[in-house]
Amino acid sequence: MQKKHLIQIDDLSRSEIEEILALAETYLELNKNKDEQKHHLGSFTQINVFFENSTRTLASFELAGKKLGGIVQNIQVATSSVQKGETLIDTALTLNAMRPDLLVVRHSSSGAVNLLSEKVNCSVLNAGDGSHEHPTQALLDFLTIKYRKKKTEDLIIAICGDISHSRVARSNIALLCKFNNQVRLVGPGNLLPASFKDMGLEIYNSMEDGVRGADVIMMLRLQKERMKFGFIPSKREYFNRFGLDNQKLSLAKDDAIVMHPGPMNRGVEIDGIIADDLNRSVIQEQVEIGVALRMAILHLLVDRQK
Ligand code: NCD
Repeated sequence: MQKKHLIQIDDLSRSEIEEILALAETYLELNKNKDEQKHHLGSFTQINVFFENSTRTLASFELAGKKLGGIVQNIQVATSSVQKGETLIDTALTLNAMRPDLLVVRHSSSGAVNLLSEKVNCSVLNAGDGSHEHPTQALLDFLTIKYRKKKTEDLIIAICGDISHSRVARSNIALLCKFNNQVRLVGPGNLLPASFKDMGLEIYNSMEDGVRGADVIMMLRLQKERMKFGFIPSKREYFNRFGLDNQKLSLAKDDAIVMHPGPMNRGVEIDGIIADDLNRSVIQEQVEIGVALRMAILHLLVDRQK
């Protein structure tokens, strides 16, 4: 990898993305073998600093680091000095003085991870900053698509729901467009920024039209924590219009897959029956692939420092 940090998808070239996917596929196979659980990279120290709550992303980065033989330390904001008034920069300098090789950072403000990366010596990995980007989620989504669809180009991908507040959507858009896919953004007008139209993306305010003929349907949660006022009249109405149920799914291609980065809200953006349908839903695969994908990125960033 050319760049020291991974803050956004545009930090990576196409060939670097292909290299990450290839290495992640190797780790995915190794992780299935119980006898081959540790793939030592040599000693490295990874600190996961999460200023925002997380379950799967934190666990995934922690496991990935440990499987590679690293020393992994988690710092959760609820118990950190940030609660005592320390600034982001001071936190960064404190962590830097502990000489980690990698900092994995999640923050509720867009741009905070980038700011922090300018103050430290080690590599910084963005685990989600505000509604800006979540690059490792997009990369693991991309590898899941490759696994299921056996290709990474010429696909029709509908990203549905609360696009406005979603860093997952932004990273996925950047990545899918690098690889020549047809990306559709589907959702209510007030959750779909007009600026996306200028980028040449297809915008749909009807779920039925948006998923028609799609190869991949990516569902997103309503990011209530980032909404400054009520964007939806009621959950029931939202589900009726924008929730993925069998009737809407039947309009997509017969072999269309359904994705969700989690955490999902059954009966709001997705019908629980679809989430549990293993012929359609790849939600659990995304989680498994996520560990392998993060191992690949940690590996390449550690190697880069040698
Ligand atoms: C996403 C996130 O935190 O941006 N979750 C995740 O990382 N798997 C999406 C979300 O919170 O809805």
